[in-house]
Amino acid sequence: MSSNSKSTFIVDSRNNLSGTIRVPGDKSISHRSIMLGSLAEGITEVSGFLQGEDNLATLNAFRAMGVKIDGPDTEGHVRIHGVGINGLKKPHNDLDLGNSGTSMRLLAGLLSGQKFASILTGDKSLNSRPMRRVTDPLAKMGSVIDTTESGTPPLSIHSNNKLNGIDFEMKVASAQVKSCLLLAGLYASGETCVTEPAPTRDHTERMLEGFGYPIKREGSKVCVIGGGSLQASKINVPGDISSAAFFMVGASIALNSDITLENVGINPTRTGVINILKAMGANINIKNERLAGGEPVADIRVQSAQLQGIDIPEEQVPLAIDEFPALFIAAACAQGKTVLSGAKELRVKESDRIQVMADGLQALGVNAIPTEDGMIIHGGKIQGGKVDSHGDHRIAMSFAMSALRAEDSITIDDCENVNTSFPGFVDIARKAGLAVRLG
Ligand code: S3P
Repeated sequence: MSSNSKSTFIVDSRNNLSGTIRVPGDKSISHRSIMLGSLAEGITEVSGFLQGEDNLATLNAFRAMGVKIDGPDTEGHVRIHGVGINGLKKPHNDLDLGNSGTSMRLLAGLLSGQKFASILTGDKSLNSRPMRRVTDPLAKMGSVIDTTESGTPPLSIHSNNKLNGIDFEMKVASAQVKSCLLLAGLYASGETCVTEPAPTRDHTERMLEGFGYPIKREGSKVCVIGGGSLQASKINVPGDISSAAFFMVGASIALNSDITLENVGINPTRTGVINILKAMGANINIKNERLAGGEPVADIRVQSAQLQGIDIPEEQVPLAIDEFPALFIAAACAQGKTVLSGAKELRVKESDRIQVMADGLQALGVNAIPTEDGMIIHGGKIQGGKVDSHGDHRIAMSFAMSALRAEDSITIDDCENVNTSFPGFVDIARKAGLAVRLG
């Protein structure tokens, strides 16, 4: 068991971050590497795979459907013996996807195309998250999926679905919904097209292309034609910009910080956190830009800066959707007022990230006002104190960073889910200079 497994973080105040670190692999890309590698013909080699609980839930689900997967070893190497697009077998048990919304939503699409029934379930948080956003369009494609009355998991996916392609306009900007429908589209007759209201992460599209599956992209619309096949590939998973974000915020707010984050994915559909922090006056330099396996990667140097409050441009919201807990900490340390709107989605993440962050910030003496679809934060002092992460990994890590500017130490409860996305967080953060320990 890793060192994050205890549930409380205690973080001393007023340190700084320095040196060069590598954050673990990208969660979104790691999920997709298992999914597409399993459906491909031949052996897919993955390096840098994120060994977080969410990704291991995906990996175990595919093992349960008869896919031989070697690893991951300590270096994050995984070898997937692909079974081909029609080679999955009926799992003997329900597939338990833990805390992972991405696993559940993407698998809902993929499993709608199988000739066997399956049941998808998760932990308390996942089993309270909305699934109609995927089950409604999947029903239009001919899938039959039962949910609870309120549209939450478990999902019971019926067998022998004959899917037909649809042309779907998403109301919410969601890469999970888009990816779910594209994966179902691999099994549908004719063409499946998804149009998004704003750009969202495009790892599924890039990886489908990397596995030799033709896709058509026209502006905000992406289409696949069912009935093709995937060819095994080599995947080099870059560091997760969502994990790097905690250190970008930490180094910006802590005096005398200078940190370099190596080998971070900078796919333009993910770089909202850099754009927003720069607009706030952060001192961020992108160095050594390169392409690795179809994804742009770079080293990112961040030095301390006095941040300024801003109105966060709404078009940046989907590009930074997982980074708002960290960005709220940046806003609390900025001069003036930061306003976020158009981010209602934050209420249905691993926790209600608007309410839980507002409660935590207020407990630390910050003037943070939650709104229906965002937050208004007046920058100022952060006091020491105690906050509850509500089992949300990103909230736990964000408040850990807030101690860098706090007047006194900060205690964060319910941190075990940090392991879902960032195993080894405590060790890496300590190496960078954060005085965090387990309570
Ligand atoms: C993800 C998409 C995002 C993000 C999640 C991972 C993905 O969700 O919040 O952590 O891998 O597709 P939405 O696209 O539903 O906003």
